[in-house]
Amino acid sequence: MDRFVVEGKKVLRGSVPASGAKNSVLPILAASIMAEGTSVIHNIPELQDVNTMSRILEYLGAKVRFKNGTVEVDSQNINRCDAPYEFVKTMRASIALLGPMIARFSRARFSLPGGCVIGPRPIDLHIRGLQKLGVDIRIEDGYVVADAGRGLKGNYIFLGGAFGSSVLATANVMCAATLAKGTTVIEFAACEPEITDLANFLVKMGAKIAGIGSPCLTINGVKKLKATEYRVIPDRIETGTFLLAGAITGGCVTVEKCQPLHLGAFLDKLSETGIEIITGRNFITVKGNKNWKPVDIVTLPYPGFPTDLQAQMMAFLTLADGVSVITEKVFPERFIHAGELNRFGASISLDGSKAIIKGVEKLLGARVMASDLRASAALVLAGLAAEGTTYISRIYHLFRGYQKFEEKLKSLGADIKREKDIV
Ligand code: UD1
Repeated sequence: MDRFVVEGKKVLRGSVPASGAKNSVLPILAASIMAEGTSVIHNIPELQDVNTMSRILEYLGAKVRFKNGTVEVDSQNINRCDAPYEFVKTMRASIALLGPMIARFSRARFSLPGGCVIGPRPIDLHIRGLQKLGVDIRIEDGYVVADAGRGLKGNYIFLGGAFGSSVLATANVMCAATLAKGTTVIEFAACEPEITDLANFLVKMGAKIAGIGSPCLTINGVKKLKATEYRVIPDRIETGTFLLAGAITGGCVTVEKCQPLHLGAFLDKLSETGIEIITGRNFITVKGNKNWKPVDIVTLPYPGFPTDLQAQMMAFLTLADGVSVITEKVFPERFIHAGELNRFGASISLDGSKAIIKGVEKLLGARVMASDLRASAALVLAGLAAEGTTYISRIYHLFRGYQKFEEKLKSLGADIKREKDIV
Protein backbone atom coordinates (compact mmCIF):
# COMPACT_ATOMS: atom_id res chain seq x y z
CA MET A 1 0.00 0.00 0.00
CA ASP A 2 1.15 3.54 -0.73
CA ARG A 3 1.17 6.58 1.50
CA PHE A 4 1.58 10.30 0.92
CA VAL A 5 4.34 12.28 2.55
CA VAL A 6 3.49 15.98 2.64
CA GLU A 7 5.85 18.77 3.71
CA GLY A 8 3.49 21.52 4.74
CA LYS A 9 3.51 25.31 4.63
CA LYS A 10 4.13 25.69 0.91
CA VAL A 11 1.97 28.42 -0.60
CA LEU A 12 0.16 27.04 -3.67
CA ARG A 13 0.02 29.16 -6.81
CA GLY A 14 -1.03 28.50 -10.38
CA SER A 15 -3.71 26.78 -12.44
CA VAL A 16 -4.99 23.25 -12.79
CA PRO A 17 -7.66 21.90 -15.15
CA ALA A 18 -10.76 20.18 -13.77
CA SER A 19 -11.23 16.56 -14.80
CA GLY A 20 -14.48 14.98 -15.95
CA ALA A 21 -16.99 14.36 -13.15
CA LYS A 22 -16.69 10.92 -11.57
CA ASN A 23 -20.31 10.97 -10.46
CA SER A 24 -21.46 11.69 -14.02
CA VAL A 25 -19.21 9.20 -15.74
CA LEU A 26 -20.27 6.22 -13.62
CA PRO A 27 -24.05 6.37 -14.24
CA ILE A 28 -23.46 7.43 -17.87
CA LEU A 29 -21.27 4.37 -18.48
CA ALA A 30 -23.95 2.26 -16.79
CA ALA A 31 -26.68 3.81 -18.97
CA SER A 32 -24.69 3.16 -22.15
CA ILE A 33 -25.65 -0.54 -21.92
CA MET A 34 -29.26 0.38 -22.70
CA ALA A 35 -28.42 1.20 -26.31
CA GLU A 36 -27.17 -1.37 -28.75
CA GLY A 37 -24.13 -0.17 -30.65
CA THR A 38 -21.09 1.82 -29.61
CA SER A 39 -21.33 4.88 -27.38
CA VAL A 40 -18.43 7.31 -27.37
CA ILE A 41 -17.99 9.32 -24.19
CA HIS A 42 -15.46 12.13 -23.80
CA ASN A 43 -13.82 13.82 -20.80
CA ILE A 44 -13.38 10.56 -18.93
CA PRO A 45 -11.18 10.90 -15.85
CA GLU A 46 -8.55 8.22 -15.16
CA LEU A 47 -9.90 6.89 -11.89
CA GLN A 48 -10.06 3.61 -10.04
CA ASP A 49 -13.88 3.80 -9.97
CA VAL A 50 -14.00 4.27 -13.75
CA ASN A 51 -11.76 1.18 -14.14
CA THR A 52 -14.05 -0.78 -11.84
CA MET A 53 -17.15 0.25 -13.82
CA SER A 54 -15.49 -0.69 -17.11
CA ARG A 55 -14.46 -4.07 -15.66
CA ILE A 56 -18.10 -4.70 -14.74
CA LEU A 57 -19.23 -3.70 -18.25
CA GLU A 58 -16.69 -6.15 -19.68
CA TYR A 59 -17.94 -8.84 -17.31
CA LEU A 60 -21.43 -8.22 -18.71
CA GLY A 61 -20.09 -8.74 -22.23
CA ALA A 62 -19.41 -5.17 -23.44
CA LYS A 63 -16.23 -4.13 -25.25
CA VAL A 64 -14.66 -1.11 -23.55
CA ARG A 65 -11.82 0.87 -25.10
CA PHE A 66 -10.08 3.90 -23.56
CA LYS A 67 -8.03 6.40 -25.55
CA ASN A 68 -6.88 9.87 -24.46
CA GLY A 69 -9.75 10.62 -22.11
CA THR A 70 -12.39 9.06 -24.38
CA VAL A 71 -14.10 5.74 -23.86
CA GLU A 72 -15.96 3.64 -26.40
CA VAL A 73 -18.49 1.18 -25.05
CA ASP A 74 -19.76 -1.42 -27.49
CA SER A 75 -22.71 -3.03 -25.75
CA GLN A 76 -23.93 -5.07 -28.74
CA ASN A 77 -23.00 -8.39 -27.20
CA ILE A 78 -23.92 -7.88 -23.57
CA ASN A 79 -25.24 -11.20 -22.39
CA ARG A 80 -25.17 -11.14 -18.60
CA CYS A 81 -27.38 -9.25 -16.19
CA ASP A 82 -25.80 -9.92 -12.82
CA ALA A 83 -23.44 -7.89 -10.67
CA PRO A 84 -21.59 -10.07 -8.16
CA TYR A 85 -20.45 -9.00 -4.67
CA GLU A 86 -16.76 -8.79 -5.73
CA PHE A 87 -17.61 -5.74 -7.87
CA VAL A 88 -20.27 -4.09 -5.75
CA LYS A 89 -18.19 -4.23 -2.56
CA THR A 90 -15.36 -2.21 -4.12
CA MET A 91 -17.65 0.40 -5.62
CA ARG A 92 -21.07 1.17 -4.29
CA ALA A 93 -21.89 3.21 -7.40
CA SER A 94 -22.13 -0.06 -9.35
CA ILE A 95 -25.76 0.05 -8.14
CA ALA A 96 -26.22 2.56 -11.01
CA LEU A 97 -26.36 -0.48 -13.32
CA LEU A 98 -29.53 -1.86 -11.76
CA GLY A 99 -32.01 0.34 -13.68
CA PRO A 100 -30.18 0.04 -17.03
CA MET A 101 -29.89 -3.75 -16.69
CA ILE A 102 -33.59 -4.12 -15.95
CA ALA A 103 -34.43 -1.82 -18.88
CA ARG A 104 -32.31 -3.83 -21.29
CA PHE A 105 -32.92 -7.40 -20.10
CA SER A 106 -36.14 -7.19 -18.07
CA ARG A 107 -34.22 -8.78 -15.20
CA ALA A 108 -31.15 -8.39 -13.02
CA ARG A 109 -29.39 -10.06 -10.12
CA PHE A 110 -27.49 -7.54 -8.08
CA SER A 111 -25.44 -7.92 -4.90
CA LEU A 112 -26.76 -5.73 -2.07
CA PRO A 113 -24.24 -2.94 -1.46
CA GLY A 114 -24.31 -2.93 2.38
CA GLY A 115 -23.01 -0.08 4.54
CA CYS A 116 -19.73 1.77 4.30
CA VAL A 117 -17.60 4.04 6.47
CA ILE A 118 -19.71 7.10 5.74
CA GLY A 119 -22.75 5.36 7.26
CA PRO A 120 -25.57 3.02 6.25
CA ARG A 121 -26.33 2.97 2.53
CA PRO A 122 -29.87 1.64 2.08
CA ILE A 123 -31.36 1.11 -1.39
CA ASP A 124 -35.04 1.19 -0.41
CA LEU A 125 -35.71 4.16 -2.73
CA HIS A 126 -34.15 2.38 -5.72
CA ILE A 127 -36.33 -0.66 -5.01
CA ARG A 128 -39.50 1.33 -4.36
CA GLY A 129 -39.09 3.36 -7.56
CA LEU A 130 -38.43 0.31 -9.73
CA GLN A 131 -41.36 -1.58 -8.18
CA LYS A 132 -43.61 1.30 -9.18
CA LEU A 133 -42.51 0.69 -12.77
CA GLY A 134 -43.76 -2.87 -12.50
CA VAL A 135 -40.54 -4.63 -11.52
CA ASP A 136 -40.90 -7.62 -9.25
CA ILE A 137 -38.11 -7.37 -6.69
CA ARG A 138 -37.07 -9.74 -3.93
CA ILE A 139 -33.98 -10.11 -1.76
CA GLU A 140 -32.31 -13.52 -1.98
CA ASP A 141 -28.95 -14.56 -0.42
CA GLY A 142 -27.73 -10.98 -0.21
CA TYR A 143 -28.81 -10.24 -3.79
CA VAL A 144 -31.55 -8.05 -5.21
CA VAL A 145 -33.34 -10.20 -7.75
CA ALA A 146 -35.38 -8.12 -10.19
CA ASP A 147 -37.84 -9.37 -12.79
CA ALA A 148 -39.72 -7.11 -15.18
CA GLY A 149 -40.98 -9.95 -17.36
CA ARG A 150 -44.42 -8.37 -17.62
CA GLY A 151 -42.82 -5.21 -19.04
CA LEU A 152 -41.97 -1.83 -17.55
CA LYS A 153 -44.94 0.51 -17.21
CA GLY A 154 -44.82 4.25 -16.56
CA ASN A 155 -46.19 5.48 -13.24
CA TYR A 156 -46.24 8.38 -10.78
CA ILE A 157 -43.32 7.92 -8.37
CA PHE A 158 -42.58 9.95 -5.25
CA LEU A 159 -38.87 9.33 -4.68
CA GLY A 160 -38.18 11.28 -1.47
CA GLY A 161 -36.66 9.49 1.53
CA ALA A 162 -35.69 10.26 5.12
CA PHE A 163 -32.69 12.27 3.87
CA GLY A 164 -34.36 13.91 0.90
CA SER A 165 -33.67 12.91 -2.68
CA SER A 166 -31.32 10.14 -3.74
CA VAL A 167 -28.88 10.67 -6.59
CA LEU A 168 -28.45 7.10 -7.77
CA ALA A 169 -32.07 6.07 -7.07
CA THR A 170 -33.10 8.92 -9.39
CA ALA A 171 -30.54 7.70 -11.95
CA ASN A 172 -31.85 4.12 -11.80
CA VAL A 173 -35.54 4.98 -11.99
CA MET A 174 -35.00 7.60 -14.72
CA CYS A 175 -33.00 5.11 -16.84
CA ALA A 176 -35.57 2.35 -16.47
CA ALA A 177 -38.44 4.77 -17.20
CA THR A 178 -36.92 5.83 -20.53
CA LEU A 179 -37.73 2.37 -21.94
CA ALA A 180 -41.02 1.85 -20.04
CA LYS A 181 -44.41 1.90 -21.73
CA GLY A 182 -46.21 5.22 -21.16
CA THR A 183 -45.36 8.20 -18.99
CA THR A 184 -43.44 8.27 -15.71
CA VAL A 185 -43.40 11.22 -13.35
CA ILE A 186 -40.61 11.24 -10.76
CA GLU A 187 -41.41 13.63 -7.93
CA PHE A 188 -38.57 14.58 -5.53
CA ALA A 189 -35.95 13.65 -8.10
CA ALA A 190 -32.35 14.53 -7.27
CA CYS A 191 -31.28 17.78 -8.99
CA GLU A 192 -27.51 17.23 -8.84
CA PRO A 193 -25.70 18.41 -12.00
CA GLU A 194 -24.60 14.81 -12.53
CA ILE A 195 -28.27 13.75 -12.79
CA THR A 196 -28.84 16.54 -15.30
CA ASP A 197 -25.80 15.27 -17.19
CA LEU A 198 -27.14 11.71 -17.22
CA ALA A 199 -30.55 12.99 -18.38
CA ASN A 200 -28.90 14.94 -21.21
CA PHE A 201 -26.98 11.82 -22.23
CA LEU A 202 -30.22 9.79 -22.24
CA VAL A 203 -31.94 12.47 -24.35
CA LYS A 204 -29.05 12.26 -26.83
CA MET A 205 -29.69 8.52 -26.96
CA GLY A 206 -33.31 9.24 -27.91
CA ALA A 207 -35.04 9.34 -24.50
CA LYS A 208 -37.89 11.80 -23.93
CA ILE A 209 -37.37 13.59 -20.61
CA ALA A 210 -38.89 16.91 -19.51
CA GLY A 211 -38.10 18.89 -16.35
CA ILE A 212 -34.37 18.11 -16.51
CA GLY A 213 -32.58 19.81 -13.59
CA SER A 214 -35.79 20.12 -11.57
CA PRO A 215 -37.19 17.86 -8.81
CA CYS A 216 -40.03 16.74 -11.11
CA LEU A 217 -39.03 14.69 -14.13
CA THR A 218 -41.54 13.58 -16.75
CA ILE A 219 -40.37 10.72 -18.92
CA ASN A 220 -42.24 9.45 -21.94
CA GLY A 221 -41.05 5.93 -22.62
CA VAL A 222 -39.57 5.11 -26.03
CA LYS A 223 -39.09 1.70 -27.67
CA LYS A 224 -35.35 1.94 -28.26
CA LEU A 225 -32.31 4.02 -27.43
CA LYS A 226 -29.46 4.50 -29.85
CA ALA A 227 -25.76 4.70 -29.05
CA THR A 228 -24.44 8.25 -29.08
CA GLU A 229 -21.44 10.52 -28.52
CA TYR A 230 -21.32 12.67 -25.40
CA ARG A 231 -18.99 14.81 -23.26
CA VAL A 232 -19.37 14.72 -19.48
CA ILE A 233 -19.35 17.81 -17.26
CA PRO A 234 -16.36 18.86 -15.13
CA ASP A 235 -16.00 17.49 -11.61
CA ARG A 236 -17.34 20.07 -9.14
CA ILE A 237 -16.02 18.19 -6.10
CA GLU A 238 -12.49 18.00 -7.48
CA THR A 239 -12.77 21.71 -8.36
CA GLY A 240 -13.81 22.60 -4.80
CA THR A 241 -10.99 20.52 -3.34
CA PHE A 242 -8.30 22.33 -5.37
CA LEU A 243 -9.79 25.74 -4.54
CA LEU A 244 -9.58 24.82 -0.86
CA ALA A 245 -5.95 23.72 -1.35
CA GLY A 246 -5.25 27.25 -2.58
CA ALA A 247 -7.21 28.89 0.23
CA ILE A 248 -5.80 26.82 3.11
CA THR A 249 -2.21 27.57 2.07
CA GLY A 250 -2.91 31.30 1.66
CA GLY A 251 -2.13 30.94 -2.04
CA CYS A 252 -3.77 31.85 -5.32
CA VAL A 253 -5.17 28.94 -7.31
CA THR A 254 -7.26 28.83 -10.48
CA VAL A 255 -9.24 25.81 -11.56
CA GLU A 256 -9.76 25.92 -15.31
CA LYS A 257 -12.28 24.07 -17.49
CA CYS A 258 -14.70 23.92 -14.56
CA GLN A 259 -18.35 24.96 -14.20
CA PRO A 260 -18.73 27.70 -11.52
CA LEU A 261 -22.54 27.50 -11.72
CA HIS A 262 -22.39 24.00 -10.19
CA LEU A 263 -20.65 25.28 -7.07
CA GLY A 264 -22.99 28.04 -5.87
CA ALA A 265 -23.48 26.94 -2.24
CA PHE A 266 -19.80 26.10 -1.81
CA LEU A 267 -18.53 29.39 -3.29
CA ASP A 268 -21.05 31.32 -1.22
CA LYS A 269 -19.72 29.78 2.02
CA LEU A 270 -16.10 30.16 0.95
CA SER A 271 -16.61 33.85 0.25
CA GLU A 272 -18.35 34.23 3.64
CA THR A 273 -15.04 33.16 5.23
CA GLY A 274 -13.47 36.22 3.60
CA ILE A 275 -11.62 34.44 0.81
CA GLU A 276 -11.61 36.39 -2.45
CA ILE A 277 -13.16 34.49 -5.35
CA ILE A 278 -13.14 35.41 -9.02
CA THR A 279 -15.28 33.44 -11.43
CA GLY A 280 -15.51 33.42 -15.20
CA ARG A 281 -17.49 31.31 -17.63
CA ASN A 282 -15.33 28.23 -17.05
CA PHE A 283 -12.78 29.09 -14.38
CA ILE A 284 -12.64 29.95 -10.69
CA THR A 285 -9.75 31.66 -8.90
CA VAL A 286 -9.34 31.88 -5.13
CA LYS A 287 -6.99 34.36 -3.53
CA GLY A 288 -6.16 33.20 -0.01
CA ASN A 289 -5.61 35.32 3.10
CA LYS A 290 -3.61 34.79 6.27
CA ASN A 291 -6.84 34.74 8.31
CA TRP A 292 -10.35 33.61 7.55
CA LYS A 293 -13.65 33.71 9.33
CA PRO A 294 -15.61 30.73 10.69
CA VAL A 295 -18.90 29.76 9.00
CA ASP A 296 -21.82 27.47 9.77
CA ILE A 297 -22.64 24.93 7.10
CA VAL A 298 -25.49 22.51 6.54
CA THR A 299 -24.93 19.85 3.89
CA LEU A 300 -27.98 19.21 1.74
CA PRO A 301 -28.88 17.70 -1.61
CA TYR A 302 -28.11 20.01 -4.56
CA PRO A 303 -28.30 23.00 -4.80
CA GLY A 304 -27.34 22.88 -1.10
CA PHE A 305 -23.78 22.54 0.19
CA PRO A 306 -22.46 19.18 -1.09
CA THR A 307 -21.70 16.46 1.45
CA ASP A 308 -18.81 15.46 -0.81
CA LEU A 309 -17.03 18.75 0.08
CA GLN A 310 -17.83 18.59 3.78
CA ALA A 311 -14.59 16.90 4.91
CA GLN A 312 -12.39 19.23 2.84
CA MET A 313 -14.25 22.30 4.14
CA MET A 314 -13.86 21.02 7.68
CA ALA A 315 -10.07 20.83 7.17
CA PHE A 316 -10.12 24.46 6.02
CA LEU A 317 -12.25 25.60 8.99
CA THR A 318 -9.85 24.04 11.53
CA LEU A 319 -7.72 27.17 10.94
CA ALA A 320 -10.54 29.75 10.94
CA ASP A 321 -10.61 32.60 13.36
CA GLY A 322 -13.44 31.28 15.61
CA VAL A 323 -16.00 28.49 15.92
CA SER A 324 -17.74 26.86 12.92
CA VAL A 325 -20.53 24.32 13.01
CA ILE A 326 -21.10 21.78 10.26
CA THR A 327 -24.42 19.93 10.24
CA GLU A 328 -24.39 16.84 8.03
CA LYS A 329 -27.91 16.25 6.69
CA VAL A 330 -27.10 13.84 3.88
CA PHE A 331 -24.93 11.24 5.64
CA PRO A 332 -25.28 12.10 9.37
CA GLU A 333 -22.42 9.78 10.38
CA ARG A 334 -19.91 11.05 7.84
CA PHE A 335 -17.34 12.39 10.32
CA ILE A 336 -14.53 9.82 10.61
CA HIS A 337 -12.08 12.43 9.32
CA ALA A 338 -12.79 14.65 12.37
CA GLY A 339 -10.74 12.40 14.68
CA GLU A 340 -7.90 12.27 12.16
CA LEU A 341 -7.92 16.07 11.74
CA ASN A 342 -7.58 16.38 15.52
CA ARG A 343 -4.27 14.50 15.21
CA PHE A 344 -2.94 17.63 13.48
CA GLY A 345 -3.89 19.67 16.57
CA ALA A 346 -7.33 20.69 15.29
CA SER A 347 -10.15 21.09 17.81
CA ILE A 348 -13.25 19.31 16.52
CA SER A 349 -15.94 17.79 18.69
CA LEU A 350 -18.95 15.84 17.48
CA ASP A 351 -22.53 16.02 18.64
CA GLY A 352 -24.66 13.63 16.62
CA SER A 353 -24.83 14.96 13.09
CA LYS A 354 -23.05 18.19 14.06
CA ALA A 355 -19.33 18.90 14.13
CA ILE A 356 -18.14 21.86 16.17
CA ILE A 357 -14.84 23.17 14.89
CA LYS A 358 -12.92 25.60 17.08
CA GLY A 359 -10.35 27.29 14.92
CA VAL A 360 -6.74 26.83 16.09
CA GLU A 361 -3.69 28.96 15.26
CA LYS A 362 -1.78 26.25 13.51
CA LEU A 363 -1.77 22.60 12.53
CA LEU A 364 1.24 20.35 13.07
CA GLY A 365 2.24 17.55 10.69
CA ALA A 366 0.93 14.15 11.82
CA ARG A 367 0.64 10.46 10.95
CA VAL A 368 -2.93 9.88 9.84
CA MET A 369 -5.05 7.32 8.06
CA ALA A 370 -7.50 7.96 5.22
CA SER A 371 -10.91 6.34 5.74
CA ASP A 372 -12.76 7.22 2.54
CA LEU A 373 -12.39 9.14 -0.69
CA ARG A 374 -13.24 12.69 0.42
CA ALA A 375 -11.76 12.22 3.91
CA SER A 376 -8.44 11.42 2.20
CA ALA A 377 -8.54 14.75 0.40
CA ALA A 378 -9.30 16.56 3.67
CA LEU A 379 -6.21 15.03 5.30
CA VAL A 380 -4.04 16.13 2.39
CA LEU A 381 -5.39 19.69 2.75
CA ALA A 382 -4.55 19.66 6.46
CA GLY A 383 -1.07 18.32 5.63
CA LEU A 384 -0.49 21.13 3.10
CA ALA A 385 -1.28 23.74 5.77
CA ALA A 386 0.49 22.04 8.70
CA GLU A 387 3.97 22.80 9.99
CA GLY A 388 6.31 19.87 9.38
CA THR A 389 5.77 16.48 7.81
CA THR A 390 2.51 14.58 7.40
CA TYR A 391 2.22 10.89 6.54
CA ILE A 392 -1.14 9.78 5.15
CA SER A 393 -1.76 6.03 4.93
CA ARG A 394 -4.36 4.14 2.89
CA ILE A 395 -4.44 6.71 0.11
CA TYR A 396 -5.88 4.15 -2.31
CA HIS A 397 -9.27 5.64 -1.41
CA LEU A 398 -8.19 8.89 -3.01
CA PHE A 399 -7.45 7.37 -6.41
CA ARG A 400 -11.05 6.20 -6.66
CA GLY A 401 -12.05 9.81 -7.28
CA TYR A 402 -9.14 12.17 -8.00
CA GLN A 403 -7.23 12.04 -11.28
CA LYS A 404 -3.49 12.78 -11.04
CA PHE A 405 -4.02 14.25 -7.60
CA GLU A 406 -0.44 14.66 -6.45
CA GLU A 407 0.77 15.69 -9.91
CA LYS A 408 -1.77 18.52 -9.95
CA LEU A 409 -0.83 19.61 -6.43
CA LYS A 410 2.88 19.48 -7.29
CA SER A 411 2.27 21.69 -10.33
CA LEU A 412 0.89 24.28 -7.89
CA GLY A 413 4.01 24.08 -5.74
CA ALA A 414 3.01 21.49 -3.12
CA ASP A 415 5.67 19.25 -1.65
CA ILE A 416 3.90 15.89 -1.77
CA LYS A 417 5.19 12.48 -2.72
CA ARG A 418 3.86 8.97 -2.87
CA GLU A 419 5.89 6.14 -1.35
CA LYS A 420 5.44 2.59 -0.13
CA ASP A 421 3.88 2.56 3.31
CA ILE A 422 6.09 0.95 5.92
CA VAL A 423 3.25 -0.57 8.02
C1 UD1 B 1 -24.23 9.91 -4.59
C2 UD1 B 1 -22.79 10.20 -4.90
C3 UD1 B 1 -22.00 10.42 -3.62
C4 UD1 B 1 -22.65 11.51 -2.79
C5 UD1 B 1 -24.14 11.22 -2.59
C6 UD1 B 1 -24.88 12.38 -1.93
C7 UD1 B 1 -22.42 8.96 -6.95
C8 UD1 B 1 -21.72 7.86 -7.63
N1 UD1 B 1 -22.22 9.06 -5.63
O1 UD1 B 1 -24.30 8.71 -3.85
O2 UD1 B 1 -20.67 10.81 -3.97
O3 UD1 B 1 -22.03 11.58 -1.51
O4 UD1 B 1 -24.78 11.00 -3.86
O5 UD1 B 1 -24.72 13.55 -2.64
O6 UD1 B 1 -23.09 9.75 -7.57
N2 UD1 B 1 -30.83 6.90 0.89
C9 UD1 B 1 -31.90 6.20 1.40
N3 UD1 B 1 -32.45 5.21 0.62
C10 UD1 B 1 -31.99 4.93 -0.62
C11 UD1 B 1 -30.92 5.67 -1.15
C12 UD1 B 1 -30.35 6.67 -0.36
O7 UD1 B 1 -32.34 6.42 2.52
O8 UD1 B 1 -32.54 4.03 -1.28
C13 UD1 B 1 -30.21 7.96 1.71
C14 UD1 B 1 -28.72 7.75 1.92
O9 UD1 B 1 -28.45 6.87 3.00
C15 UD1 B 1 -28.27 9.17 2.20
C16 UD1 B 1 -29.16 9.99 1.29
O10 UD1 B 1 -30.29 9.18 1.00
O11 UD1 B 1 -28.54 9.49 3.55
C17 UD1 B 1 -28.53 10.43 0.00
O12 UD1 B 1 -27.92 9.32 -0.64
P1 UD1 B 1 -27.83 9.17 -2.21
O13 UD1 B 1 -28.14 10.47 -2.87
O14 UD1 B 1 -28.62 7.98 -2.63
O15 UD1 B 1 -26.30 8.82 -2.43
P2 UD1 B 1 -25.71 7.99 -3.63
O16 UD1 B 1 -26.57 8.20 -4.82
O17 UD1 B 1 -25.41 6.62 -3.21
